[in-house]
Amino acid sequence: MHENMRGKEKMKGLIVKGKGKLRLVTDLDRPVPKEGEVLVKVVAASVNSYDVESAAGNYDAYFKEYGVDEAVRTGLEFAGIVASDSVKFKEGDAVYGYVHLITGCKAHAEYISLPEAYLARKPERLSFEQAASLPTGVLTSLEVYETLAAGSSGKSTLIIGAGGGVGTSAVQIAGILGFEVTTLSSATQMKGLKNLGVEHVLNYKDVALSSLKDKFDIVLDLSTRYTLEDCRPLLTSGGKFIPALPDESNGGTGETDDVGYLMLMEGNGEKLIRVNKWIEDGKLETTLDQIYAFEAHHNAIERLAVRGKLGKIVMSWKIAV
Ligand SMILES: NC(=O)c1ccc[n+]([C@@H]2O[C@H](COP(=O)([O-])OP(=O)(O)OC[C@H]3O[C@@H](n4cnc5c(N)ncnc54)[C@H](OP(=O)(O)O)[C@@H]3O)[C@@H](O)[C@H]2O)c1
Repeated sequence: MHENMRGKEKMKGLIVKGKGKLRLVTDLDRPVPKEGEVLVKVVAASVNSYDVESAAGNYDAYFKEYGVDEAVRTGLEFAGIVASDSVKFKEGDAVYGYVHLITGCKAHAEYISLPEAYLARKPERLSFEQAASLPTGVLTSLEVYETLAAGSSGKSTLIIGAGGGVGTSAVQIAGILGFEVTTLSSATQMKGLKNLGVEHVLNYKDVALSSLKDKFDIVLDLSTRYTLEDCRPLLTSGGKFIPALPDESNGGTGETDDVGYLMLMEGNGEKLIRVNKWIEDGKLETTLDQIYAFEAHHNAIERLAVRGKLGKIVMSWKIAV
């Protein structure tokens, strides 16, 4: 295909049709890579609560502010095959990555174009579906346990909501970086977390946060249920509370030393290359809850709300309904 014919070619993708509703369409324009970008044929992409929020219009003001007019507004992480040579990648390379939270293409489409710097080669050991389940979790966890925890005097962490999509990566990355990990999760997630190497696994239905006697250097709340006030008694001197969705009501935007502001804005191929080594060495495992066909996107989104599941939900173009 001649270069200037690209963009006239059509592709499938999910678009927002009615508030909160997604629809699979087949006549979207295939994106054309800008300078520094690479075109990827998506094989699999995961489903996150971001997708529900974006479909509900929660990010529309930001899309407008940044002049984003992409039809596809869901899908943060993916794995796929490079569709044409770029500076760093060759056509046919298997890659995976995380997009930009607001600007540019989103991954619930057959093709995306994005900055080369956002992706890395897919570890051979992982299927496309497994690889698509990783970037949000590992990049968020590195942000927490390297960047925000830098200068932390000790290495103990409590991860609240550890059995979910981010948590199943967070427990492993924290462990790799030398943290002693305690988790609060559903009963059904406890065995899976133990298998991922967590030593201290607590059931949030049996153990109230306020009853915990231990102190932690990092309290990461992925459940989005708790505030700085709830967690302050659990912090060591110099410890940090890091809420998954920082806002004024949970104290996550306060510029105090006991809060870490978490916001994963864009992909980072360099970090994924480091993650690849942990995967190849068998130190980091993926945790897939379910894989759906893109055609069954309603089921994938519905599954997000089911309590007690372990790990990530992924959609794949390879699967027929
Ligand atoms: N700021 C950032 O940069 C950033 C980056 C990535 C993700 N996030 C956010 O992080 C959050 C977590 O993402 P995720 O993909 O891991 O979501 P998820 O898969 O829904 O995981 C959330 C977990 O919290 C658990 N939970 C609910 N109530 C709890 C409680 N009272 N005590 C302990 N655990 C409880 C849930 O267990 P049940 O199944 O039992 O309900 C679930 O396993 C989301 O809100 C996401 O938007 C933020």
